[in-house]
Amino acid sequence: MSLFSPLTIREVQLRNRIAVSPMCQYSSEDGFATDWHLVNMGSRAVGGAGLVMLEASAVVPEGRISPQDLGIWKDEHIAELSRIARFIKENGASPAIQLGHAGRKASMRRPWEPSGAVPESEGGWSRVVAPSPIAFGPGYLVPEELSQAEIEGVIEAFAAAAKRSLDAGYEIIELHAAHGYLVHQFLSPISNHRTDEYGGSYENRTRLVHQVVARLREVWPDNLPLFVRLSCTDYVDGGWDLDQTVQLSKELHAAGVDVVDCSSGGNVSHAKYPIGPSYQVPFAEAVRQAGVPSVAVGLITEPQQANEIITSGKADLVMLARELLRDPYWPLHAAKVLGVDIEWPIQYARAKN
Ligand SMILES: Cc1cc2nc3c(=O)[nH]c(=O)nc-3n(C[C@H](O)[C@H](O)[C@H](O)COP(=O)(O)O)c2cc1C
Repeated sequence: MSLFSPLTIREVQLRNRIAVSPMCQYSSEDGFATDWHLVNMGSRAVGGAGLVMLEASAVVPEGRISPQDLGIWKDEHIAELSRIARFIKENGASPAIQLGHAGRKASMRRPWEPSGAVPESEGGWSRVVAPSPIAFGPGYLVPEELSQAEIEGVIEAFAAAAKRSLDAGYEIIELHAAHGYLVHQFLSPISNHRTDEYGGSYENRTRLVHQVVARLREVWPDNLPLFVRLSCTDYVDGGWDLDQTVQLSKELHAAGVDVVDCSSGGNVSHAKYPIGPSYQVPFAEAVRQAGVPSVAVGLITEPQQANEIITSGKADLVMLARELLRDPYWPLHAAKVLGVDIEWPIQYARAKN
């Protein structure tokens, strides 16, 4: 098994083990995908990735991180999203989309703007929701606690978004349960102080993710893969940690999740991250050792590094984010470095050698 070995998950065959990690572009109006999204995702399919995943797409408008997030909360979004899926597919990659809800981290300014919450006068919204009324950190809104009826609504919004993803031609959906967004907020005792059946014990804190996954599996066809991205640790004592991640991954796998995408952090504003090359790979390795197919992500930039992660069995797939922004053709270049002969887009054939 190596970086350029194909991988079949359910009935989807990936041409290699390189995936484009979901990356918010903060370039939408009213949730609509644009030409930017088509070119951005399309060029990475042309560049040779096996899987191209669209950024966190909000399942409800109030679940956007910023007012400019991509959305999938209404049927009108499907047409533009389907154009992107079709192009990705035509160019040999599998089209995937991440479904998200920002919870208490919603209604914020884009990363390149001065930080802070966006006022209603500029398209923000003042009511953000979460398991408990605890702000993420300075500058963030204090969320309102979701009622049980509202939690039902969130679960249904994820299911409706999955149906739209299917209608738009996506082959893989990923539930965003990482980076301190809504589902992660329920998992972590740092952000979840509820006293009802959604808070307290491990079983209660994981109830929402199980309920969302169960509904997703009801509406998402049996022949198509479902991924879940987890933050494998909060990096603070008393927070979500790797032991809980491994336990949850096993439960989710038994419930029909095909792959756990192993990221970390994002739920504690003062947490310290041990950032360095491959720093999250041990999480993917631990999940895979527990019998659950996994994705490694985070500071994977070199062809040999990516290949070693696969050949040594630490993960089934690697996801690259920033390196694929620097070089959309990274997979084509990596094949050359590794001495693997892969097909280039026919239009580019004369540039191959
Ligand atoms: C511009 C940008 C936007 C991102 N948006 C998302 C997102 O929508 N969903 C997500 O799960 N992670 C998101 N991430 C995190 C990446 O998917 C990835 O996990 C992280 O950047 C580490 O990988 P890297 O070192 O290869 O960049 C984003 C990262 C960047 C740089």
